[in-house]
Amino acid sequence: MKRILIQLDTDSQASSFDAVTAIDAGVDHLLSYSQINPSNIVPLVQGAIFTRGSKELKNTAIFVGGSNVEAGEKVLAKVQESFFGSMRVSVMMDSNGCNTTAAAAVYYAKKQLDLSQSRAVVLGGTGPVGRRSAHILGSLGAEVVVVSRSLSKAEHVCSLIDDTTGRFTAAEIPAQGKIGSLLEGADLVIAAGAAGVQFATLDELSACESLKVVIDLNAVPPLGIGGIQSTDKANQIGSLICYGALGVGGLKMKIHHHLIEQLFESNDQVFDTSQIYNAALNMG
Ligand SMILES: NC(=O)c1ccc[n+]([C@@H]2O[C@H](COP(=O)([O-])OP(=O)(O)OC[C@H]3O[C@@H](n4cnc5c(N)ncnc54)[C@H](OP(=O)(O)O)[C@@H]3O)[C@@H](O)[C@H]2O)c1
Repeated sequence: MKRILIQLDTDSQASSFDAVTAIDAGVDHLLSYSQINPSNIVPLVQGAIFTRGSKELKNTAIFVGGSNVEAGEKVLAKVQESFFGSMRVSVMMDSNGCNTTAAAAVYYAKKQLDLSQSRAVVLGGTGPVGRRSAHILGSLGAEVVVVSRSLSKAEHVCSLIDDTTGRFTAAEIPAQGKIGSLLEGADLVIAAGAAGVQFATLDELSACESLKVVIDLNAVPPLGIGGIQSTDKANQIGSLICYGALGVGGLKMKIHHHLIEQLFESNDQVFDTSQIYNAALNMG
């Protein structure tokens, strides 16, 4: 039976990145829908669950994407709410690559550090990738500083991730050249800013004696951390172990392809942050 993936995207144009990746992962037919929100998805979910017999339902799956993580989370919740009994299909949520990219970045951080004893600073921490990186780091016991140009935006993201453990602190990005004030006691920096946004240079980060690992996810020049190459993968530069966007991106793509394939193994799986991070652990 043909494997059909239903792409539910919250943006005005469904992501071509997610579409190409789905096809490369072996999906036979991709049905892409844009401008998706909780009020317009029920008929689409019903179309997925009422069309094939229960034994064949595993050949249909749903992918939730788009650039807005909060919108994607609401769609994922509504999709799951629309299922009942065995009338369900497997679903993966990865708005803007948030889960697959964060899972790959944290996988590499964990190779270098005992994250339960680490302090991590996530620059650009309010974006899809930054907030998921913060989430996974916190779930592994790290102390996490979520950094934004706006303190209230960083506080909002911290409250969405967790307001009970005290592991998450919000911070405003300091003026250029003053990044050292953020880094006291930090073991790890993840730069997850928008494409082409540079936060600091490796020279500036090297002044922080506790810092061991720097991961920059921005592949578009200027890179997020000047002095890192996008292809760096556990390269020692001075005192720091460095990863660039392409150094992390290979694993991100491997996880994404693998999980699209896995969606069609049964009709009852949900791949969100923790499941996607667990997949990274098994694949890195
Ligand atoms: N390597 C890979 O495999 C891979 C995969 C996916 C994505 N990426 C890259 O990962 C990065 C994060 O992705 P994303 O979708 O989460 O990014 P995003 O939403 O475009 O941006 C992340 C954050 O960057 C901050 N920002 C935006 N413009 C800024 C500016 N001019 N100065 C300082 N900060 C600014 C914003 O935070 P505030 O407004 O709160 O300051 C924003 O929330 C991007 O560079 C993306 O291209 C890499």
